[in-house]
Amino acid sequence: MCGIVGIIGHEFKVAELIEGLKKLEYRGYDSAGIAATNGSQLIVTKSVGRVDSLKAVIEEEKVVRSGIAHTRWATHGTPNDTNAHPHTDCSGKIAVVHNGIIENYQELKTELIKRGHKFKSETDTEVISHLIEENFKGDLFQAVLDTLKILKGAFAIAVIHSDIPNVMIGARKGSPLVVGCNDKYCVLASDVTPIIKYTRDVIFLEDGDVVYIEGNKIKITDFSGNTLIRKHTHITWDESAAEKGGFKHFMLKEIHEIPEAIESALVGRIDSNYTPSLHELDEFNLERVKRILLVACGTSYHAGLVFKYFAEKYLDVDVLIDVASEFRYRPIRITEDTITIAISQSGETADTLESVRAVKKAGGKVIAISNVVGSTITRESDVTLYMNAGPEIGVAASKTYVNQLILLYLLGLYIIKKRGLWNQEHREIVKQIVESPKTLKGIITNKEIENVADNYKNYHHFMYIGRGINTATALEGALKLKEISYINAVGYPAGELKHGPIALLDPKFPVFAFVPKDSLYEKMRSNIEETRARNARIVAVATQGDEEIKKIAHDVIYVPEAHEDLYPLIFAPVIQLFAYHIADKRGYDPDKPRNLAKSVTVE
Ligand code: F6R
Repeated sequence: MCGIVGIIGHEFKVAELIEGLKKLEYRGYDSAGIAATNGSQLIVTKSVGRVDSLKAVIEEEKVVRSGIAHTRWATHGTPNDTNAHPHTDCSGKIAVVHNGIIENYQELKTELIKRGHKFKSETDTEVISHLIEENFKGDLFQAVLDTLKILKGAFAIAVIHSDIPNVMIGARKGSPLVVGCNDKYCVLASDVTPIIKYTRDVIFLEDGDVVYIEGNKIKITDFSGNTLIRKHTHITWDESAAEKGGFKHFMLKEIHEIPEAIESALVGRIDSNYTPSLHELDEFNLERVKRILLVACGTSYHAGLVFKYFAEKYLDVDVLIDVASEFRYRPIRITEDTITIAISQSGETADTLESVRAVKKAGGKVIAISNVVGSTITRESDVTLYMNAGPEIGVAASKTYVNQLILLYLLGLYIIKKRGLWNQEHREIVKQIVESPKTLKGIITNKEIENVADNYKNYHHFMYIGRGINTATALEGALKLKEISYINAVGYPAGELKHGPIALLDPKFPVFAFVPKDSLYEKMRSNIEETRARNARIVAVATQGDEEIKKIAHDVIYVPEAHEDLYPLIFAPVIQLFAYHIADKRGYDPDKPRNLAKSVTVE
């Protein structure tokens, strides 16, 4: 996720682009840049760091006729000045900003280099400016159309050419792009926030749309140049709501971004016929691994726990998992066939980082799973699987947890494939993962979750229970509730209840039970009966069509049927939304829970 803004029309000061970028900074903030022209040359200024660093080095008073700007959340290439957007071609006349991932950039780059193109950055984006250069025969629009046909992946782009300062072109496939014009200017951006100052009547481009802007007039076409009619939307949100996409809080917005985040995590990682492809891991001899050590904290630890259940079920490996604050102080035994996976969305968690260092010191190899390109853990690990979820502003992990699960499932499946254990069931799991953005969208928009949350907002305690792979879901559900709503919530494997915690239960201590139609369904039902016998109120999260569960639970939230190992993924938005609504209804700000920080850099 990155932020794009482009302005064109009458003359304007570069400061306008900076102002637009500031509003998009929540979409990425590792580097920023601007390319603008007044018709003579292309002026390109970039800077690593936040938009303020760019502001400090750019000539804000400079008057230009068109310009594109970008605030970056790195996916390919470390955050530095060179990798910052915009990217230019060899002539230095064409500039491109891009949000998304170009899946086939490596092959395109190899071909372009063979044809004499010189690349400056490590980014996937730079191939776009070079391809447009090759296709440019005097008509920028046609050159962009010809380029779009070659690109695979997800993108929103904006393009300018210094010889044609009255033209700007935008296109979208998978990443958002909005355009709005008044009587002097057109503004193209990743969301409405930079546009509102100019107009409140905007067009949300759809996938496969291209916008050709000349002065303050626009034409929208498909990738073949056929004109399309798109309706205007009148924006009534104020600016702060617009930054949150009209949602009350970042956490809610980020939960709604889960489908898009999953799509980004999957780009380039699934081969045809639903097989996972994580070739960056091939150096690890995954076919011979016998022990997998997992290390992480908090929510990331719970994602690791899901992997443990998943991997041990299908693979002949021992998966040992520990929270990083314990792991690092215990003896670390590394053998030739051991691999360590360090999970950290921020890539900066002190205890996880020290665990990585301890493993490396003991001679081990580390695969990191992180959302932040260039973060310390990614630099010190042997290889990183990036989550590509885009920045997460809400302190409580939501879409990053989901993308951790996605990568861990793919990792497990990739090892299964490498070991020659691949079968039809695994293919079905991958198929369901590929379809999960759509499945999860349906869950995220299920109003019942908020209704049920309303019934429980005044309780002081909560018990979360699950079995098997959903033991991890129970732990994560309890963590989410306690950290943002300050309700005392505990998570347990359901079978453990009778060994102590059941003593807590009474009508004031409700139970949140994960009871999907899986191989442990009957056992789980018995556990629910046990809690009911103690007069506890019960919320069950169950598979659609399970009418029986209504007889024992007071409230039921239904989810679609899935492969039994994928229920942690299916349940993730349920636990997040339940905690979110309770926190909000209790009057707390879920984005900024007390005593917590997004990145825990202390031990
Ligand atoms: C809870 C949450 C935390 C983090 C933990 C580890 O919602 O976000 O529990 O999961 O602090 O953070 P990372 O993944 O950045 O290492």
